[in-house]
Amino acid sequence: MADLLAFEDSRGSGTPVLFLHAFPFDHRMWWRQRDTLAREGVRSIAVDLPGFGGSASILRRSVDEFADEAARVLDHLGVPRAIVVGLSMGGYVSLAFARRHAARMAGLLLADTRSSGDTEEGKQGRNTNIERARREGSAAVFDAMTKAWAPNPDPAHVAEMRAMAASQSVDGVIAALEMMRDRPDGTSRLPEIRVPTSVVVGGADDLTPPSLAEIMARAIPGATLHVFDGAGHFTNVERPAEFDRVLLDLVRRKSD
Ligand code: MLT
Repeated sequence: MADLLAFEDSRGSGTPVLFLHAFPFDHRMWWRQRDTLAREGVRSIAVDLPGFGGSASILRRSVDEFADEAARVLDHLGVPRAIVVGLSMGGYVSLAFARRHAARMAGLLLADTRSSGDTEEGKQGRNTNIERARREGSAAVFDAMTKAWAPNPDPAHVAEMRAMAASQSVDGVIAALEMMRDRPDGTSRLPEIRVPTSVVVGGADDLTPPSLAEIMARAIPGATLHVFDGAGHFTNVERPAEFDRVLLDLVRRKSD
């Protein structure tokens, strides 16, 4: 059996929030949200997905296996249900979690992500990035994500995310690129989601633009859509106050 994913578990009461990070980062990208939740007395769990952070030695191939590993962390902690929050790659895993572990989910926040699979052009881009990671390392893959940022990003945000990306193992980054390249299109399964759902997107996010967020918000029954004008792809880092307002509102609306 594989090792359990690395994770951080904060104190607090009630249904916890489970954070699933973007590519190529780890649980640290959620520190702002976790501080906010801790102040509100809400427990949070942030995992390092397979291949990242403290889970660097665990390589998985499919998005379904990524989701199953996250569910195993809940099993390990004795948590029956969680509010699942995923950004971009974390959103792909959240949607797989919703398909495979619906009974474990009390709410869903999808940020800067998409339900569709990769286009042929997108798959080519993954292969280019796999070669880039092999040749130049993890930070080079981050540097190529130029569409992620709105014009004139805060240099402190870029530095924070770049340092996190640079610390990831090349093997983990490559395995995740393969996982994302090969993930299925989950759009037809969106109407099956039956928990309170919020969809967040940066208005200037060119990686996963608002049009893709609208598709998800329309298809998931009762979902709310929140477009942060002028923000890029990493809305939780760029606009933590707005992001946390949506998150706290979802915590209040979660299903029992
Ligand atoms: C991410 O932010 O997780 C990635 O941009 C997702 C992707 O490349 O599809």
